Amino acid sequence: MILADAELELVPKELQDHPSVIKNAKRRRKTPSKLLLDSSLHRSAFKDKAEALRRGRPDIVQFFLSLCLDSIPNAEGKLTTMVHTRNNELIEVSPDLRMPRSHNRFVGLMEELFDKGQVPDKKPLMRITKNTTLEGVLKKVKSETTICFAPDGELVETVSLFEDLKGPIACIIGGFPEGDYSSPAKELSDRIVSISPHTLKVWTVASNILVSYNQSQKTYK
Ligand SMILES: C[S@@+](CC[C@H](N)C(=O)[O-])C[C@H]1O[C@@H](n2cnc3c(N)ncnc32)[C@H](O)[C@@H]1O
Repeated sequence: MILADAELELVPKELQDHPSVIKNAKRRRKTPSKLLLDSSLHRSAFKDKAEALRRGRPDIVQFFLSLCLDSIPNAEGKLTTMVHTRNNELIEVSPDLRMPRSHNRFVGLMEELFDKGQVPDKKPLMRITKNTTLEGVLKKVKSETTICFAPDGELVETVSLFEDLKGPIACIIGGFPEGDYSSPAKELSDRIVSISPHTLKVWTVASNILVSYNQSQKTYK
């Protein structure tokens, strides 16, 4: 499972002087440059309306990781979970990572990850690598089939989709709330599929994929 172009980043330099950021930094006793950008706190810092609606969504990453890591395919050792960010960073996540349930603890963990490169200190279960494009992520994954999930893709029924495929499958979901992929996710994929005529939230798509994949495997056994 690859969350691509995820809206996860530290507060960018040009927003670090904004009162909403300074207030948040003071409250958390951190420097603005070490804070995770969060649209629920920093939206007023953006001058551009489209950027304000799209950037700073750590909650999407938290939901995605919680769903993947607590899924049946992960428990059965059949899942690799990765996050590719808007700034071309790759976050590799161990299947053994236990996700914090509270949003504040998740934010703290991700800030530590950006700061130190890996967390936790003693036995790292999450690692971030800079300068990794989505193409680089897919080269690393070496999947047999790459599927891009998008509302404008070919409408499919997910269980049958997975039943028809053999070997490792890379499923790409966009980790953003608005707009389209900024990486060439569609061009890099073998198929572009839609699971509903509606535009869905990331967690709805991720949960559908995880359950359908599990079901398709059970049908085969
Ligand atoms: C909230 S959507 C982003 C909205 C955006 N307007 C778009 O066109 O993708 C986030 C991601 O969820 C997935 N998604 C949303 N609706 C989908 C659908 N009907 N079928 C497949 N994937 C979908 C896609 O991977 C998308 O990038």
